[in-house]
Formats: sequence, structure tokens, C-alpha cells
Amino acid sequence: SNHMKQKTGRAVFQLGRSLPRFLHSGSKLTSSTAASKLKGAALTSEDIFAREDKYGAHNYHPLPVALERGEGIYVWDVEGNRYYDFLSAYSAVNQGHCHPKIVSALTAQASRLTLTSRAFYNDVLGAYEEYITSLFGYDKVLPMNTGVEAGETACKLARKWAYTVKGVPKNQAKIIFADGNFWGRTMAAISSSTDPSSYEGFGPYMPGFELIPYNDVPALEKALQDPNVAAFMVEPIQGEAGVVVPDPGYLTKIRELCTMHNVLWIADEVQTGLARTGRRLAVDHENVRPDIVALGKALSGGVYPVSAVLCDDDVMLTIKPGEHGSTYGGNPVACRVAIAALEVLEEERLAENAERMGKILRSELSKLPKDIVTAVRGKGLLNAVVIKETKDYDAWKVCLRLRDNGLLAKPTHGDIIRFAPPLTISEPELRNCIDIINRTIMSF
Ligand SMILES: Cc1ncc(COP(=O)(O)O)c(C=O)c1O
Repeated sequence: SNHMKQKTGRAVFQLGRSLPRFLHSGSKLTSSTAASKLKGAALTSEDIFAREDKYGAHNYHPLPVALERGEGIYVWDVEGNRYYDFLSAYSAVNQGHCHPKIVSALTAQASRLTLTSRAFYNDVLGAYEEYITSLFGYDKVLPMNTGVEAGETACKLARKWAYTVKGVPKNQAKIIFADGNFWGRTMAAISSSTDPSSYEGFGPYMPGFELIPYNDVPALEKALQDPNVAAFMVEPIQGEAGVVVPDPGYLTKIRELCTMHNVLWIADEVQTGLARTGRRLAVDHENVRPDIVALGKALSGGVYPVSAVLCDDDVMLTIKPGEHGSTYGGNPVACRVAIAALEVLEEERLAENAERMGKILRSELSKLPKDIVTAVRGKGLLNAVVIKETKDYDAWKVCLRLRDNGLLAKPTHGDIIRFAPPLTISEPELRNCIDIINRTIMSF
């Protein structure tokens, strides 16, 4: 009932904000929804689906569940139902929802100084830069906001380095990507994509990008023969492709080949980094060091968009004042939030927990009937199962029933379900979740 009170209070608040818009548009509040809104009744999940559908772009296909609160590994919908979050906002909420330390860093800084732009110095940016570079062992950091901006920044650095250091002729630099990559939705990111739903209808595409198969060392070796190659950009585990884990030794080989051919290795750790796979960075599984690391998502613990590119001076200092930037990048709120988010990962030893919980999760999921769950893969708490599609069920239907049983996960590519809870999950909680997954799968 405590929860109900809170829920009602919040719905009223939302209404207060939307009412003027209703009135302004001149529409009469005659529908039953509008009438109940006037009385201050809470919005139902159905109301919320309908409103987003009506006023928002249709660029997503959400699972039908309307959330209003999160805490740790749990989220609650507007009817007060509690769910385990097994998506963690695509690995942004590694530290758990509304982590108190991160939220208090956000609110404390928000009432002090939020944005100066980089036209001026501020008293937080340097503290963050010093902290993150020493934590990851790179000379410098370039702060941005979203993951895709980190990828864009990494590509720009690689091109600039190619022209000013490596000696590639003007406008001839190439960046190699792997089939199945995903690094966001900008023009450059979709230009490297092999997924038609990402690129189709949005051409023409960015020149100077080339693709090779993922997890294919001979293909990389061949591609790097070209003296105009600036960089190879790759995810240590391909997240959006469906948690595709390369063979052991692949990362080591990338390091060797890139060094041999004077090519920069860009590791896109936006999804795999920050303890998700059981190490601080996924490349730490093979103890290799990329030339450029892109971070995002959990760099803020899900409370604010914060991304970063890490590299050494020989690359970073090729970009001079005025040649790249972002109004919000490196703002004081983002910096305080990122410091807190990184400290939580370290203080709570979340990489270690992810490693241990991931082993339990995969070993239990592997016991599910192979005629329904045809594959289980992952590292740490970045995992996926492949669901065999029949006329009675598919990954979407499995996710709907998981929701009904109190666990939220999202299907991808039709037949894959990602299982990626916040890294704060305990063993008893994880075993509860395994129970739910087991019960759900067996019900088919
Ligand atoms: C590996 C990887 N890189 C980059 C991105 C883009 O991040 P954002 O959506 O914050 O732009 C994503 C998002 O899913 C990702 O998984």
C-alpha cells in the first residue's frame, strides 16, 4: 500500500504537467481516460502504451510493460508489479537501478554547477580525467555523452592519426570493422553496419569503411596489408549481434597484428566494458591493451548519458583545440556521476561478482531442454540463449511469459534472448531468476 501511494502521487504529478497541453490543444476531455485523469487516477499500463504510441516516433518496439520505479536489480510497473531486470538498459545499469551513491553524486552536483561548456574550465573535469585515466592506464581521456559519440570520436582520432602520424595520403584512410558490429545509429555507425534494419534506406554511406568477418584472424591479417588502414574497430564480444563471443586468443591476435602493421586497435567496450563480462574491461580477459578504448553506458550507472574515449598522447594529441568537441561532454554533473559510477564498480567488486554469477547462470541455463534452448553463451553477466522457433513459441513469446512470471528480458534478431541483470545480483536472487526462466521455458 505504501507503494500504491507513491505510484498515485507520481501519476498525479505527470498529469499536472500534461494537462495544459490537453487544454491548449482545445480538445474536450471526454474520453474515459481523460476523465479519470482529471480525477487524478493513476495511468494504467495500457494508457501508457497508447500515449507513447500516439505521440512518439515508432522507432522502437518495446515489450509491453510500463515501468515507474527501479531499485537495484528490481523495477516496478505502474500497477505495482515487481520484476527482475534482466536487460539492465543494455548494460547501462550495471551498478543497479538508482544506486544511492551515484544518485547522490548527481543531485549534489546538480544544485552546484551543471554546465559551463568547454569554453571555460570547471573544478570537476580534471578530477574525473585524472581518476579515469589512472584507473584504466591511459594518458588521456576525451569526454562525450552517448556511446555512439565515443565511437565517432575514436574514428576521428584514428583518421587524424593516420594523416598526421602514419602518413596516409589525404582522404585515403580506411577503418576496418567486423560483420555484425553495432555501435549506434549515426550516419557513420550505420555505414559500417551489416544489419539492413540499421542501414537500409539511410544511404549514401560514409566512405573509407571496410568490413571483414568477426573472429577471423586470416581475414584481419589480409585487410591490414593495405598501408592506408588507420584502425580496426571491434567489440571484444559482439553485444547487439546476440552476444557473440570470439574464440580464445582472438583479442591477442588483434593486438599482435595491429602492432605489426602500425594500425590502431579501437576496442568498443561501450557494452562489454565496466565489469559486465567479469573483468573491468572485456579485453582484460586476455590481458591485452587496445590503442583506443570507447566507453559509455555504465560509465554513468544509467543515470545520465556519459561516454569517453581513452588513448595515449601520440593519438589523442593529434586533435587540436577547435577540431572536435561537444557542448555537454565533460560537464560537471557527468564527471561527478562517472567518478561515482566507477567507484561503485570497484568498491563493490562488481567484476568479480559478474564473473561468479555468470558461471552459475550459464551452467544452469545449459540444463534447459536443447530442443527449445539450442544455445547458451556469454561471459560474466553478458549472456544470451537461442530459442528454437516453432509455431507455438518464439523468443518474443518467451519474453512475454517471462514478464508475466516477473522477469524482464528482450528478444533480439528474432530468436535470441539476452540475459544481463545488474551486476549487483546475489546468488540467492540469481537462483530465483533461474527458477523463473526454467519454469517459463518448461511451460512451453
Ligand atoms: C558496443 C556498442 N557500442 C556503441 C553503442 C551505442 O551506444 P549509445 O546507444 O549510447 O549511442 C552500443 C549501444 O548499444 C553498443 O552496444
